[in-house]
Amino acid sequence: MPYQPQVTVIGGGMIAHDQILPSLYQLQRLGRIGEITVCASRRSTVESLASAAAILRAFPGQKFRAFPESGAPGGAQPELYRSVIEHMPPRQIVIVAVPDQLHYDVIMAALRHEQHVCSVKPLVLQHQQAVEIEREAFTRGLVVGIEYHKRFDDRSFMARRKYREGWFGEFRLGTARLFEKWYYRHSNFQNWMTAEHSDAFTYIGCHYVDLLHFITGLLPTSVSVYGIRDKFPNGKEGFLWADARVIWSNGACLNVQNGLGFPDAAPGTNTQGMMLYCSGADAGSLIEHHDQYRGMKYSYVRQPEGAGTTIYAEPSPDYFQYLDLGGPGLVPVGYGYRSIEYILSACMRVELESGGLIARQKLLHEIDAAGIMATPANSSYNELVIEAGRQSILNGGREVHIELDGVGIEMK
Ligand SMILES: NC(=O)c1ccc[n+]([C@@H]2O[C@H](COP(=O)([O-])OP(=O)(O)OC[C@H]3O[C@@H](n4cnc5c(N)ncnc54)[C@H](O)[C@@H]3O)[C@@H](O)[C@H]2O)c1
Repeated sequence: MPYQPQVTVIGGGMIAHDQILPSLYQLQRLGRIGEITVCASRRSTVESLASAAAILRAFPGQKFRAFPESGAPGGAQPELYRSVIEHMPPRQIVIVAVPDQLHYDVIMAALRHEQHVCSVKPLVLQHQQAVEIEREAFTRGLVVGIEYHKRFDDRSFMARRKYREGWFGEFRLGTARLFEKWYYRHSNFQNWMTAEHSDAFTYIGCHYVDLLHFITGLLPTSVSVYGIRDKFPNGKEGFLWADARVIWSNGACLNVQNGLGFPDAAPGTNTQGMMLYCSGADAGSLIEHHDQYRGMKYSYVRQPEGAGTTIYAEPSPDYFQYLDLGGPGLVPVGYGYRSIEYILSACMRVELESGGLIARQKLLHEIDAAGIMATPANSSYNELVIEAGRQSILNGGREVHIELDGVGIEMK
């Protein structure tokens, strides 16, 4: 029998709908994975995911097993995921797609039940937790891949290769921005992206911090984040605007601006991009990415349905699209799909290694060293930045130093 792992997704919200479930259905269609399960805390969440029109259109006849099950008592079941994971056969795959502050518990539950893990970013909010996850997974010969999908955008691979071949010299100063649309404030985010748990930099800024390292190999050494508190529609308070300054191991500086404030009426699903100024021995160089505008302009005859949609649109063909390649259904393409496919392939590769635990661990080290897929071992600088960023934003933007040698953070 070929190894076709069962895949269980914990969390059934926006990212499960927009990227994870369709990517899994495609892998299932290709015969790469077996049964798919989705466990959310509420029945209504899995019901709306199961009836999502875009997914039904793309994958006619494909289904997932849903928890809470039909007829389950109403109300939230925040601990249900534990029994769902416990009932999985060992050495399958769990995808973690719950709010940031819940990642740690779900990941550890999965590892302790011998499951490979793919987690949405950020892995966790504390560096020590990333270390524990790394240890637990390595001891058991299990993969933990973190889904920083911007890495799988071809332009990131292009910049990485050219940078590492020396075409840009050394990164000096840069700016990056990622603003999600205003309507995000009305979504489930208002229940968890609140000031005590997260902020605009933690939630979205980590993408460009990770990308800067992915391209240049530099490591962050200090962070200061100025945040502006705003009210969600439900009255809860969040840092919905953030301006971060990240200093790197060569003294370079990246400024990262984030917010839930891109106008709903503006074209494109968000605004994002980066400009990196670099220097060689006697020449300047630059890398500029317009990550929201990929050169397409559509003006429709009527307003499309859905929050944040516009009659004039600038769609991205690169993150996630459904194409009609002759049917049945539609085929998902883009770096959102490729990222999931890559991480699940890594899980399968390790699982199919027949040389026992030592051989699996050797393979895990090779995956860490290759640095293409983010793992707890090769990307926990992200957790240090998040920890430092949280401390900074809660202290009015004071600089927080990252001790890479002693592995810790310290407020200046
Ligand atoms: N660009 C990206 O990489 C990207 C984009 C969006 C979200 N994310 C990450 O994905 C995660 C989820 O974000 P989202 O946008 O889907 O949020 P969301 O609020 O839309 O969905 C969260 C889901 O988690 C579920 N959940 C909460 N507690 C649970 C529990 N105890 N057991 C089972 N399910 C539980 C909820 O039912 C909901 O379905 C976050 O960590 C976020 O940072 C990453």
